Amino acid sequence: SVVEEHVSAMLRSEREDEEYADVDWDNLGFSLVPTDYMFATKSCREGNFEQGCLSRYGNMELNPAAGILNYGQAKLQIFIQKTHTKYSYYKRFFLGLIEGMKAYRGEDGRVLMFRPELNAMRMKNGAERMCMHSPSVQQFMEGVKQTVLANKRWVPPPGKGSLYLRPLLFGSGASLGVSAASEYTFVVFGSPVQNYFKEGTAALNLYVEEVIPRAYIGGTGAVKAISNYGPVLDAMRSAKARGFSDVLYLDAETKKNIEEVSAANIFLVKGNTIVTPATNGTILRGIIRESVIEIALDLGYKVEERVVPVEEMKEAEEVFCTGTAAGIASVGSITFQNIRTEYKVGDGLVTQQLRSILVGIQNGSIQDTKGWVLEI
Ligand code: COI
Repeated sequence: SVVEEHVSAMLRSEREDEEYADVDWDNLGFSLVPTDYMFATKSCREGNFEQGCLSRYGNMELNPAAGILNYGQAKLQIFIQKTHTKYSYYKRFFLGLIEGMKAYRGEDGRVLMFRPELNAMRMKNGAERMCMHSPSVQQFMEGVKQTVLANKRWVPPPGKGSLYLRPLLFGSGASLGVSAASEYTFVVFGSPVQNYFKEGTAALNLYVEEVIPRAYIGGTGAVKAISNYGPVLDAMRSAKARGFSDVLYLDAETKKNIEEVSAANIFLVKGNTIVTPATNGTILRGIIRESVIEIALDLGYKVEERVVPVEEMKEAEEVFCTGTAAGIASVGSITFQNIRTEYKVGDGLVTQQLRSILVGIQNGSIQDTKGWVLEI
């Protein structure tokens, strides 16, 4: 195969033929563990991407005038979005998109990915929104597959985590004036990971942020732009310094409705009803979000996607958040205006039921009747 040719051309060391890399699989968190290879390809001026290839994982070269370095800046986004009027102007600025996806090792040794084509399509839609060239779904999938296969020994043993894949798309073409870049680079690299939150599988304590919003109407909250993350680091840092696990953001316009956690969607459970904020352009359509909604509907729950007033979280029985990195994480409390509301956590609850089905499908222990799982 193409992958084997690339890889053998790069003189794989004997170690790389071992089944597993030398990693302490019982102590993985969510920090970078460099793997053997990464994948990269560039687009030409017409927007078509070259056939990409694998190379040793390592630093990349960038022109100092690359769009990503000059106009992909998060601070610029806040400033421009505050003016609220220059939609067509700021639309050109953000030349960086990310994706997040995971490869799991099943008990039978197969390596499985969960709905990867949805990530490919989300990157394509995001690129359109940001005036960027984008790899086709097929090119995206090829890059991801090659990266997983070349780094197979970094896919953790069953039950010990997953290989997190990070596809990146950024403006690498050089220019001085404010404009979309003339060339884009698509890169895929990976890192073995386990729990995203430092709490591990323990319940999260969220803090409702009232000053800094995550996204704005007409902004880029619905696409996986790198500029969705930089501007909220400050809010995350101060919440964490006060002992919270993460931040729950309110809508920028009214500050009355809940939107999203820094890198995860949010769900409230009350009785047989599961509620989550509707994706109206400011909320990321998480792939786990969509999947959990479908699983919950299959199980007979009522799912409501709508505006969710922050006060409503006081009436919820259970709360959880979802994301590729986060999985389905239980929330034990939410603090809003110094009032802490606590939620049920533990076995036998809705969150646990949804999580065990999702995880089972992802790792191949529950039969995939939906065509969600792709063997790599
Ligand atoms: C995800 O992959 O779930 C993300 O939201 C990316 C995040 C870790 C920045």
